[in-house]
Amino acid sequence: MIAKVLVLLCILSVSCAQKTPVFIYYESLCPDSQAFVTKQLYPTMKDLKDYVDLHLIPFGKSSYRTQGSDTIFDCHHGEIECYGNKIHACAISHIQVDSFQMEHTRESLIVDYITCLMGGVFKDEAYADLAKECATRTQVKKFESIENCANSTEGSDLLKEMGEKTNKFQQPLKSVPTITIRESFDLQVQQDSLNDFARTVCIHLPKPTPNVCRTYNAATSIQAFTALFTVLIAAALHLMK
Ligand SMILES: *[C@@H]1O[C@H](CO)[C@@H](O)[C@H](O)[C@H]1NC(C)=O
Repeated sequence: MIAKVLVLLCILSVSCAQKTPVFIYYESLCPDSQAFVTKQLYPTMKDLKDYVDLHLIPFGKSSYRTQGSDTIFDCHHGEIECYGNKIHACAISHIQVDSFQMEHTRESLIVDYITCLMGGVFKDEAYADLAKECATRTQVKKFESIENCANSTEGSDLLKEMGEKTNKFQQPLKSVPTITIRESFDLQVQQDSLNDFARTVCIHLPKPTPNVCRTYNAATSIQAFTALFTVLIAAALHLMK
């Protein structure tokens, strides 16, 4: 009965449309991941956050083994990346919005914070300083809880969960970042996402697609038109020779 009522409400209201799951497998110190998060993911989530159920999985090509009660990580870009990945995993689990942050959802604040980390520079291996600076800049409250998590077994446990998710998806991960829309890997989605993530997400959203998606298509038609125009001019010039 409740389910039927929910379905009816969903038909009546666009706002309860199901979000489309998107998975990003990445690494904190990987330049391609940094470029993707800052240039593609961040602007896309600004426009499409109501349509995307984002899963950030900071682990990439790392590996882990257990030694007694400890988990030992071996990360693609070294020790500091392991610490960075723990900060990310802890932030994803700990960030909360308070009642004064009305412009944010938990998810949008996480995206802001992760984007700041991925676009940031840090000196002398001090990733913790960058993490703190980003918390101030993006107004993430209670940074201590993120740092304490990253510096303790809680951080190791959370990073290990990210490792389990990554391995379950693909072991070893072939490329970083790997992007999937819904659960399974698709080479076309991967390549298109790296070039134009917003448009790629739009193509895979259930119909009717949100209005904002039209602006991406318009941009592409203008590009296509300009390309066609250039070819025509070139051909005309060639004929006139
Ligand atoms: C947490 O660990 C980082 C990196 O090892 C270190 O720089 C920082 O001072 C530690 N913070 C606390 C609160 O122990």
